[in-house]
Formats: sequence, C-alpha cells, structure tokens
Amino acid sequence: MLPKSTLPLALATAALATAPMAHSQDFPDGPGKETVMAVCGGCHDINRVRTGYTPEGWHTVMLMMRNVQAPVPDDQWQMVEQYLAQNFPERPRPAASIIEGPAEAEIKIWPVPTPGSRPHDPLAAADGSIWYTGQLSNKLGRLDPKTGEVREFAVRTPRSGPHGLVEDRRGHIWFTANGAGYIGRLDPKTGEVAEYPMPDANVRDPHSLVFDQNGVLWFTAQQGNVVGRLDPTTREIKLAPSPTPRSRPYGIQVNSKGVPFVVEFGTNKIARVDPMTMQIREYVLPDPASRPRRLAIGPDDAIWYTDYPRGYLGRLDPATGAVKEWLSPSGTKSEPYGIVFTKGALWYNESGAKPNTIVRFDPQTEQFQTWAIPGGGDIVRNMDVTREGNPVTANSLVNAIGLVEVK
Ligand code: HEC
Repeated sequence: MLPKSTLPLALATAALATAPMAHSQDFPDGPGKETVMAVCGGCHDINRVRTGYTPEGWHTVMLMMRNVQAPVPDDQWQMVEQYLAQNFPERPRPAASIIEGPAEAEIKIWPVPTPGSRPHDPLAAADGSIWYTGQLSNKLGRLDPKTGEVREFAVRTPRSGPHGLVEDRRGHIWFTANGAGYIGRLDPKTGEVAEYPMPDANVRDPHSLVFDQNGVLWFTAQQGNVVGRLDPTTREIKLAPSPTPRSRPYGIQVNSKGVPFVVEFGTNKIARVDPMTMQIREYVLPDPASRPRRLAIGPDDAIWYTDYPRGYLGRLDPATGAVKEWLSPSGTKSEPYGIVFTKGALWYNESGAKPNTIVRFDPQTEQFQTWAIPGGGDIVRNMDVTREGNPVTANSLVNAIGLVEVK
C-alpha cells in the first residue's frame, strides 16, 4: 500500500471531493495496482485508464502524468506503466479509410521538445510561425517551420494547463488556462504572461477562445457551463450561463457578421450568442445522440461541426435550422475532432481511426478525400489555418505538431 503521506494534502482532499469511487476488485491484480488505485483517481476519474493505449501510448501518458506531478514514487513509474500497458491495452479502433481524390497535400510533422507536453491547440501566427499549447508541460511553444527551430515559453502559474490558443493584432498570444481558471496573454518579446482571472469561482476551466472582428475575445468553459466575453481594452470579463445544464460549451467560432457560435459537447445543441446582449439561442440537432465537439464556419456562414461520438460531419444552416449530416469515411467510431474550413473545403481529423486521418470534404461535390497522418497523428484536438490557407494540427498523444501543405 502506498503510504498516505506521499499524496500531497491538497490533492488527497481534491480526490475525496471529486473522484468517483473506484472499487479495488474492478481492477486486475498485479504489481502496480496499489499505486494506480491510490494515485490515478486524484485529479480525474480513475476509469480514464480504461481508454487503453499501445505500450508507446502508455509511455507518453506516463510522461504527461509526471509533468503534472502525479504523486507516484520515483521508483514505481516503470511498474505502473507495465501494469497499465498489460491490463489496459489499446481498444479496438477502426482502420483508417483512405480515399483518393482531386486535392494534393503533403503532411509535415515536428516533434515538440518537452516530452509528454500533450500539445493541445495549434496556432498559425501572422509571421508564419506555428504555436502550440503544451497542456501538460505548462508551456507555450513557437515553431519556425522554415528552420524547424522551436522555442518554448514557460507559464508562471503551476498546472495552468494551457489549452486554447489565439493571436491578437499586436502579435500577443492568448491562451485559456484550463487548469487554473484564467485567460493568459503572452508577450513573445519579453516572455511575460498577463493573467485575466475568471470573475466567478465556479468557472474554473476556460476552454476554447476566439477573437471577433472588434478585438473582443470570446471563450467557453465546459464544466463552468458558460460562454464568456473578455474585452482586452477594459479587461472586463462577462459570463453568460448556457441555457442547458451540463451542456459543456466547447468549440467556439465567430461568423462573418461578428456572431459567436458554440458547439455544446454535453448535449445535441449548437448555440448562437448575441454579441451585444450575450443572449444565447440554441439549435437542436436532430439526433439526440449527437455531441458536436468542434466547429468551422464556411464563407456562407454555414456551421460545420464534428459529431465526435457518432462519427459524423454535420452542417447547420443557422438561418433555417436545417441540418445535414455525412458519415465520416472511417465510420461511426472514427471520432472526428479538430476541424477547419479552408481552400473551399472542410479539413478535419478522425482521432479514432488508426492511423488518424486528415479528411477533406468538398461541400460542392459532397466528396470525401483522406490522408493517413504520418506517425499516427493520434488525437488532433484542434486545428488552425496559415495565411497561405494550409491547415495546422497539434497531435496530442504523439507530442508533435503538423502542417498540411495543400498544393
Ligand atoms: C496531478 C493531477 C493528476 C494525477 C494525479 C493523474 N492525472 Fe492523469 N491527467 C491529468 C490532467 C491534467 C490530464 C489532462 C487534462 C484532462 O484531460 O483531464 C490528464 C489526462 C490523463 C489521461 C488522458 C491522456 C490523453 O491525452 O489521452 C490519462 C489516460 C491519464 N491522465 C491517466 C492517469 C494515470 C494512469 C494516473 C496515475 C498514474 C493519472 N492520470 C494521475 C492530471 C492528473
């Protein structure tokens, strides 16, 4: 049994307060079990281990959990890794469906320097650099794709969990601190971070963010169940609760008229936010099992979304509420996730397919085309677009970032 004293008090308290009960008999016996039982439910549901990973995947997860200082004694990490790899292997995943098509693209991948970073969001900056949030390394990184040079910027507050990522007109880099309840602004010239704390203690997990045409920053908080608005000139933050309880406001984008749209990952709804009053109107997607996770807005202001658990790409016409859906090429378990609209098409990731794919969907012909991501891709949680119109990716479980060069 792991001595209780190795669990920092705050963590142990958090574990008691938030972690669901795990019963020892639910986990297979073997060396490492005691430590897993004692530690791995401390910050999140212990049953997360049931997702299952390849041995390499578990190795990366262990590096991530080391980065967040999961209190595993130093000489036990190896044993824990073996226990998990043996008892929780990768679950069956659909084979990537590779479809030929008219577009030509080349995918480039760069590893990020800190092991176990869990690169969450990519950002294609105005100067041609590609940024990423290291959610579990507590860093922001900047890659020069011409030279391959990477510079990482440490975030001051421990376990900030840098998550969403956007750039303002002055070249400052804004991120959501998903683990520490603030929005941060990094000045890349000085490396300094200004923090904008959430005005409500119940809103602890700012998630995704986007600037509108007036320089106002809009954001979501999943567990906080709100949409937020931060005016950088006054520093004022306003929060609007989602009308649906536990709706998990997730991806957010602004249309050509400055109207924010939010996908609600906890329900089958898409929200439209009035930019003046912050009043929220919800559109209901026809299938009750839909859980839209990310969205992209087309030049005609149509809302395209990835329906993660059902494996569909969807299109909502906000003028009529009409919805059309297409099954993603790798099927119902393909877990479509990060998505952008660029070069006249939707580009998104199938994060459940093995290997992960980049999917192109042409809204005119309604044809799919796909590419396997070199290195497996493994969970592209968000995407962005360069000034040349090329998608960029953060490949979280393989600790890399990528660029899709469309010819
Ligand atoms: C100090 C807090 C903490 C502890 C203790 C902890 N984790 Fe985590 N874990 C996190 C955070 C933060 C994340 C990423 C954010 C999220 O998705 O919740 C995460 C994510 C994960 C993921 C998903 C990784 C991915 O990218 O797919 C797995 C699996 C996981 N943890 C397993 C474990 C295991 C196994 C242990 C015990 C050895 C453990 N965790 C202990 C904080 C913790």
